Amino acid sequence: MTESVSNHIEQLRKTINDHNHAYYVLDDPTITDIEYDRLLRELQQLEEQHPDLITPDSPTQRVGAKADSAFAEVEHLVPMLSLDNVFDEDELSQFARRINERLENDENRAIVCEPKLDGLAVSLLYEKGKLVQAATRGDGRIGENITQNVRTIKSVPLELRGNYPDKVEVRGEVFMTKASFESINEAARANDEKVFANPRNAAAGSLRQLDPAITAKRNLSIYVYSLGLADGVDLAGSHYDRLQQIKSWGLPICPEVKLKQGFTECLEYYHDILNRRDDLPYEIDGVVYKVDDIEDQEQLGFVARAPRWAIAHKFPAQEETTVLEKVDFQVGRTGAITPVARLQPVFVGGVTVSNATLHNMDEINRLDVHEGDTVIIRRAGDVIPQVMSVIKERRPKDAKAISMLTECPICQSPVEREEDQAIYRCTGGLFCQAQRKEAIKHFASRKAMNIDGLGDKLVEQMSEAKLITSIADLYRLTVEQLITLERMGEKSAENLINALEKSKQTTLAKFIYSLGIREVGEVTAQTLAVELNDIDTVKASSEQELVALPDIGPIVAKHIVAFFANEENNKVIADLIELGVNWPKVEKPSADEQPLLGKTIVLTGSFEAMSRNEAKDKLVALGAKVSGSVSAKTDLVIAGPGAGSKLKKAQELKIEVADEEQLIALLNNN
Ligand code: IVH
Repeated sequence: MTESVSNHIEQLRKTINDHNHAYYVLDDPTITDIEYDRLLRELQQLEEQHPDLITPDSPTQRVGAKADSAFAEVEHLVPMLSLDNVFDEDELSQFARRINERLENDENRAIVCEPKLDGLAVSLLYEKGKLVQAATRGDGRIGENITQNVRTIKSVPLELRGNYPDKVEVRGEVFMTKASFESINEAARANDEKVFANPRNAAAGSLRQLDPAITAKRNLSIYVYSLGLADGVDLAGSHYDRLQQIKSWGLPICPEVKLKQGFTECLEYYHDILNRRDDLPYEIDGVVYKVDDIEDQEQLGFVARAPRWAIAHKFPAQEETTVLEKVDFQVGRTGAITPVARLQPVFVGGVTVSNATLHNMDEINRLDVHEGDTVIIRRAGDVIPQVMSVIKERRPKDAKAISMLTECPICQSPVEREEDQAIYRCTGGLFCQAQRKEAIKHFASRKAMNIDGLGDKLVEQMSEAKLITSIADLYRLTVEQLITLERMGEKSAENLINALEKSKQTTLAKFIYSLGIREVGEVTAQTLAVELNDIDTVKASSEQELVALPDIGPIVAKHIVAFFANEENNKVIADLIELGVNWPKVEKPSADEQPLLGKTIVLTGSFEAMSRNEAKDKLVALGAKVSGSVSAKTDLVIAGPGAGSKLKKAQELKIEVADEEQLIALLNNN
């Protein structure tokens, strides 16, 4: 009996470890999460019944007992070095020149390119294939023993596989994925706990927990990038091959590691990774180039604490400190008042930034930010720069606290806070020039009436000049009026009038969307058009009737009814129709004209045969709901080249993914 239970337990452990290996090392999952959990539970139950059969390297034994005080010191057998940095191509070519001087000149030298992961360096020591020690880098010579915490990292094998050395020490970076970081911070926010500033801090904080059970919950990851020492196997003669060897022992290597020839290729690698930086599931702060040949590495040796055979090529920093000089309040299309930080200009994320969003008053209170404070600004990718935190120690005596206005800065109407909401609003509605301006910008935008050539700047100019006060005024503009504007020639004025004329021919869904009713996005506008078929029915619908429609909730319904209860709005609609805005009559399509009804589709990446917007219109016409983000409710993700995080998420959630060719087939067959 015990014999067979013990065999079964062994078999389960092996199966679980194999699945782990397939998932973390081969990046090729072999079962679903649910099946995996089922196996782990089965093993747990058997071990509970037979505690004498528990072994320390069982996959159930990752979480050990709490440490009672600080971590013990560990002396590294081989010192853990750091890297020198370069910040631009000039510095990189100096590095290349130094190498070519010390070794034989070779323009096509093999160089391994790796992402510079933004986490913490750790060393893992395996003896006879078992993880016996994990340590932080510390000062490079002496680190801290964090074995109990590292054991909880699921991608760290507790046991090696294959032809591993008798004793081996590898180094790698422990990090937290962006997704884990977001979910941990979300949970912290929900519990009113302190949030982490970035994934690196979160990883560091998690690794230094005395209670491994906490570390286990933080979902850390690791990629190994070098070998400290290895006894008892023949090692490959190049860094790249050694990484493959390390991988064959069951340790995870970053899939972005590439073998290149010469520094021109390295630079291409740098730019490629920099372009994809936001789409990678983890944060990186640059790339690392390493001379591939180990003999060459040995010949190059070290300077101080960094090797001469490797260099980090850093990306422009995404975070910088600067002074927040002033907070202004901006009024949006729906009256929402957003505080905007005016900053001392600072170079961050590759551009000079002088404004950052502060979202709302809750955010100001959470940050406890004052005018005059030194703040940390973050600009990642094309995202609007954010104020991350305040350096309180540097607050000047005359720093000024920030409070919400009681009056709209533009129209002086009272400002109100909605119940249970963080947002304050100007109550002026379309009386407020700021709201009017924003409403016009929205009306003209591409997804709304698509008025070619009428961008935000021009709307600003026209409303400043009082040429337009409502959206209907757009269709009353004349060439004579337009040419009075600065930098507006007769040709451009004529073009704009033509574009306005052309925009009059629209669809009911686009028209409803253009009106800028609160909470009514493209999808809701489409629902209203398809379900109610004409603007008068939309106008006459009660809240009750609206909530009966698919995907329309009570809040949206309230906003729709309130919008049409306003006579001013109805007058504008009547004017627009009178001025010639029109759309084909909407017939409720029959089910066979809408083969994609009920399907939620997400488009990501770029397509060749059509723009993403065209693809979207076509899919919507077939009844699909086209959404901007992937969730469990998504039925299909159509991914073109360059697709990143959405594609990754679809794969994680095991959602069907199609390419452009399949999209075209789908459109043609329906
Ligand atoms: S190699 C002798 N490779 O960067 C070479 N380091 O600035 C030692 N890091 O402490 C490091 N990604 O924490 C290497 N692919 C990578 C890396 C990497 C991140 C970190 C590591 C190290 C620091 C050096």
